[in-house]
Amino acid sequence: MIDAETHLYAVLGNPVRHSLSPALHNGAFRRMGLNAVYLAFEVQNLPEAIAGIRGLGIRGVSVTIPFKAEIISLLDEVDETARKIKAVNTILNRDGRLIGYNTDWSGAIEALEQKVRLEGKRVLLLGAGGAARAIGYGLKRRRAEILLCNRSLQKGKALAEEIGCAWKPLSAAKDFEADLLINATSVGMHPYGRVSPVPKAILRQGMTVMDIVYRPLRTRLLRETE
Ligand code: ATR
Repeated sequence: MIDAETHLYAVLGNPVRHSLSPALHNGAFRRMGLNAVYLAFEVQNLPEAIAGIRGLGIRGVSVTIPFKAEIISLLDEVDETARKIKAVNTILNRDGRLIGYNTDWSGAIEALEQKVRLEGKRVLLLGAGGAARAIGYGLKRRRAEILLCNRSLQKGKALAEEIGCAWKPLSAAKDFEADLLINATSVGMHPYGRVSPVPKAILRQGMTVMDIVYRPLRTRLLRETE
């Protein structure tokens, strides 16, 4: 029941109407018996939204596209890992101090580790945006051997140098015999869901494939692994 004691949590993004975060968090609150509610806010002006978190005492906030980098300079404190990844996706309001964290990398790495041991694995990482940076950082921490491939060469090279891994153009991805393939691009996302970022011939027996695109849940890339 929502009453005067209910705590508010939120996700800030734009666009944000597709977000699964309210369904996930409200479901978890219910199951845990917490008197809390989680809403999605489509934000136009980020500093005003941050003032709103402080002013209303919103307990915790998720941050999504396009604010993950911009928000860093507006917080009171940013955890060291989030600072390295240059992205905050989670804010904790601790007695009025807003502290930024990044859980994108640990979420992805924990999901992968349920399937494979990452140390020494040959990983083909597609993309050079924020998602690729977070996952690449996590893979590096787990001592995987990474080849980063991206459509735009400049962005690919810059991120590979930042992470400290090899890189090639996307068209060269097919020559790398990977144990693990991770799509960290937006290719395959609704409403352009009929495409895959790589040709099917790249997929090999025994390869583990992860797609960060979750709409549709079964992307063309994942369907082609069957
Ligand atoms: P995010 O922060 O979610 O990772 P982003 O910074 O917009 O999002 O990055 C999107 C990634 O998807 C980039 O690597 C982008 O490649 P470019 O750097 O060349 O733009 C990749 N991407 C998007 N559309 C693509 C397409 N049609 N083909 C190949 N790569 C694509």
